[in-house]
Amino acid sequence: MHFKLEATDSQGSARAGTISLDHGIVETPIFMPVGTVATVKGVHQRELREEINPDIILGNTYHLYLRPQTPILEKAGGIHKFMNWTGNILTDSGGYQVYSLSANRKIKEEGVKFKSHIDGSYHTFTPENVMEIQRTIGADIIMAFDECTPYPCDYNYAKRSMHMTHRWLDRCIKHLEKTPLKYDYDQTFFPIVQGSTYKDLRKQSAEYIASANAKGNAIGGLSVGEPAEEMYEMTQVVTEILPKEKPRYLMGVGTPINILENIALGIDMFDCVMPTRNGRNGMLFTAEGTINIKNKKWESDFSAIDPMGITWVDTEYSKAYLRHLFTVNEMLGRQIATIHNLGFYLWLVREARKHIVAGDFTPWKNQMVKQMDQRL
Ligand code: GUN
Repeated sequence: MHFKLEATDSQGSARAGTISLDHGIVETPIFMPVGTVATVKGVHQRELREEINPDIILGNTYHLYLRPQTPILEKAGGIHKFMNWTGNILTDSGGYQVYSLSANRKIKEEGVKFKSHIDGSYHTFTPENVMEIQRTIGADIIMAFDECTPYPCDYNYAKRSMHMTHRWLDRCIKHLEKTPLKYDYDQTFFPIVQGSTYKDLRKQSAEYIASANAKGNAIGGLSVGEPAEEMYEMTQVVTEILPKEKPRYLMGVGTPINILENIALGIDMFDCVMPTRNGRNGMLFTAEGTINIKNKKWESDFSAIDPMGITWVDTEYSKAYLRHLFTVNEMLGRQIATIHNLGFYLWLVREARKHIVAGDFTPWKNQMVKQMDQRL
């Protein structure tokens, strides 16, 4: 992997760069659509490639380990071949899902014992086996096994958890060194900063993570219910410490506004279920604000879904038709909303990149934040 910084905003910390990986170049800032179980829900790979065209998408170790299960992915020759996605893929380690989805989880120094949310079977994730599972799934970027603390989180718990995440990181690195690649392309490992909403812990964690000298770094434990201002404060503390010459990934963030504000603080990579999940629920993100397409006010509005026309669905269908599809619970409605939202999220980060390169990111960002804060 190689990261090249191409431009930095003169009024803030926003950066434009490129990450070279074996399945193509990722232009940053980037938003990675979430494809939890080897599908970006409701979107054909062809549509994703031809219409949205993200340089990288995300999968989840926890889900893929439970279904289709690691041996199937190995037989397929890795996740790219299995799902027919020729672009880059990043897998999260399960360090989030194991806490948010599984029942009866027990966290110990050794690892996490958990009960599957699908069939109630028991499993254990350790830093070691999660590295092996991610080797077999075969994503281009793989993540450290960590504990994502909840919000709010008691200081002493956050401190103990952060130190355990650091010890787990050492175990991940040690084990990866002796776990060979399974396929004919490279995998890049990212460690994860934790420390809840405590500045001193965030600083300590960022220093520890930076000292691991990985090729890229991630920030976890945010966007878990804390006010946005607290999230931005934590991002700022951490980005001041993480090395400038390596990509920074803020996990699980966020709304279009959260993304722009965090780009301004020096974040390069994002992922979030919002455009897909909220889309399936009838929420559309646009440059002018958010739309709840289920609202009666759209019943006879025959104007285009989004006159900006970023993706073809935006002008092909009307708001009234899309509202109707949601009213009668047709799956086409959820598909249209998903394509629209992903198209918008990718447009947003690409515009951000253009403005960073052009040197007018900050005023553009401030204007966009004002506009997008409205409910239409
Ligand atoms: N996704 C969102 N937040 C987190 C986190 O803290 N850890 C991991 N592994 N994934 C995340």
